[in-house]
Amino acid sequence: MRFSATLLIAAALAFSANAASIDRRDLVISPPVALCIADLVSASEQLAIVKTAVDGFFSSAGYSGALAIHNLEQVLETRINKAKTDCCAVTGVITSDEATGVLDTVGLLVPKVVDAITSINGKKSQFDAIFLATSIVKTDLKNLEAATKALDTCLVNKTPLTPPEFKIQADAYVATINASFLSAKNLYKY
Ligand SMILES: *[C@@H]1O[C@H](CO)[C@@H](O)[C@H](O)[C@H]1NC(C)=O
Repeated sequence: MRFSATLLIAAALAFSANAASIDRRDLVISPPVALCIADLVSASEQLAIVKTAVDGFFSSAGYSGALAIHNLEQVLETRINKAKTDCCAVTGVITSDEATGVLDTVGLLVPKVVDAITSINGKKSQFDAIFLATSIVKTDLKNLEAATKALDTCLVNKTPLTPPEFKIQADAYVATINASFLSAKNLYKY
């Protein structure tokens, strides 16, 4: 099964326009990589929760409202750190199936990172209106950036070099994440 699935991936990558049409249920994925993927999904879910909370945040919620966002961010940080730990712990050769599974999941996570940061950027004036709220946001952004980049480093380092499409895709995801954090850094000066 693994052999045929790999051939299927290789064929699909050869016609890369069709790569998105592979049936992901056919991917053969080892338990450590499956754990890494599950962690990425879990972080992705929390990112959506943080974004929704930030979108609904106004300075009228006061310091306790800002703390409520901070608490959601702490859960996110824990989940990203768990993904970092588990994804970094994967050893040995990463198969094409596994790389496909991980990169697909990262592909779902990246827009959620961008959306959450866009929302946080959009609320700066609301945070600024509350004494000490912006300094909490700055610390959270700084910690999130460090955790996310540590995770990215492992994912990129473990991405197979052949076919080259995997690495190109991984680098493109990281570049998008970097640009997103840079926009927050320029705005919040953290
Ligand atoms: C992303 O940023 C990190 C440091 O913050 C850097 O090491 C890495 O090369 C950057 N990657 C890309 C693809 O821009």
